[in-house]
Amino acid sequence: MEQNFVNFNKVGIIGCGFVGAASAFSLMQSGLFTEMVLIDSDQARAEGEALDISHGIPFAKPMEIYAGNYDDLKDAGLIIITAGANQKPGETRLDLVKKNIAIFKSIIPEITKRDFKGILLIVANPVDILTSVALKLSGYAPNRVLGSGTVLDTARLKYNLGQHLNVDSRSVHAFIIGEHGDSEIAAWSCANVSGIKLDKFCEMRGHFNHQEATRKIAEDVKNSAYEIIARKKATYYGIAMSVKRICEAIVRDEKSILPISAQMNGEYGISGVALSLPAIVNSQGVETHVPLQLNEEEVSALKKSADTLKKILEENQI
Ligand SMILES: NC(=O)c1ccc[n+]([C@@H]2O[C@H](COP(=O)([O-])OP(=O)(O)OC[C@H]3O[C@@H](n4cnc5c(N)ncnc54)[C@H](O)[C@@H]3O)[C@@H](O)[C@H]2O)c1
Repeated sequence: MEQNFVNFNKVGIIGCGFVGAASAFSLMQSGLFTEMVLIDSDQARAEGEALDISHGIPFAKPMEIYAGNYDDLKDAGLIIITAGANQKPGETRLDLVKKNIAIFKSIIPEITKRDFKGILLIVANPVDILTSVALKLSGYAPNRVLGSGTVLDTARLKYNLGQHLNVDSRSVHAFIIGEHGDSEIAAWSCANVSGIKLDKFCEMRGHFNHQEATRKIAEDVKNSAYEIIARKKATYYGIAMSVKRICEAIVRDEKSILPISAQMNGEYGISGVALSLPAIVNSQGVETHVPLQLNEEEVSALKKSADTLKKILEENQI
């Protein structure tokens, strides 16, 4: 595993649109960093966000937030990439491939030529494809390049289950795995509420129609982005909190288990593609995947999800 000795008090965000700005705002409130560099091809936008977010500092913790350039990122512990086109109503994440690969081809070399030694967190969509792209273009060790993956989808799953069962969503343990997108999988066979198998807990709360309820919840999670985009054109608060959670695990060397997107190395017979599975996240980035005890149906859906992503990588010569 590549070791990096970098300034974990400093974070860079490339792309200051809805997602970049909301992430910057949540990171400012978190107190995790003392310096935050904002970069956008629209310099005025980065400057405006830096000013606006800085005005909240007297209510949070001291830090420096400024619109910068790639030279400012050289010693950052973490760079978060949210630059790229977002989904328009009716568009899938995979529809963004070509536009956003081209953007990554302009961004990643700017980072590598400054001898950056920290961790790259990819958020722009399609996040799994762009994590593979960033890994390939940077040539960094796989532990240093991760995507936000299904951290957000998993939060949506926990939230919906918490609502369904009238219980704190933090007591729900369940994962969405695979692509952050239409082929994602709810790993129901491993879901539990504080150690109690999900079906049993549902029955304790008066729900007996498991198949119907889990099918609806998984569909609602998968369609969340479409529903939000149809109403307000973009999603950004949920992902901003997910970004904050991933940064926290890295900067504080928490060894937290999060379903980030990372390169697969033969787990379930899948390799050569980045997708989401629970993984231990520490100050080096991704330590290792945590294999879930999936049933046959889930493994086969995971392989199908990997094949969908692989096909796109091949079509785009990644
Ligand atoms: N991973 C997730 O769970 C998740 C969730 C929500 C959105 N997203 C994705 O995040 C991305 C950003 O979404 P958004 O709603 O903030 O879009 P947006 O259009 O509001 O912002 C994109 C920003 O990127 C900037 N940009 C474009 N090319 C650039 C470049 N080469 N260098 C620097 N900046 C550049 C633009 O100027 C713009 O400010 C999209 O791809 C979206 O699909 C991911």
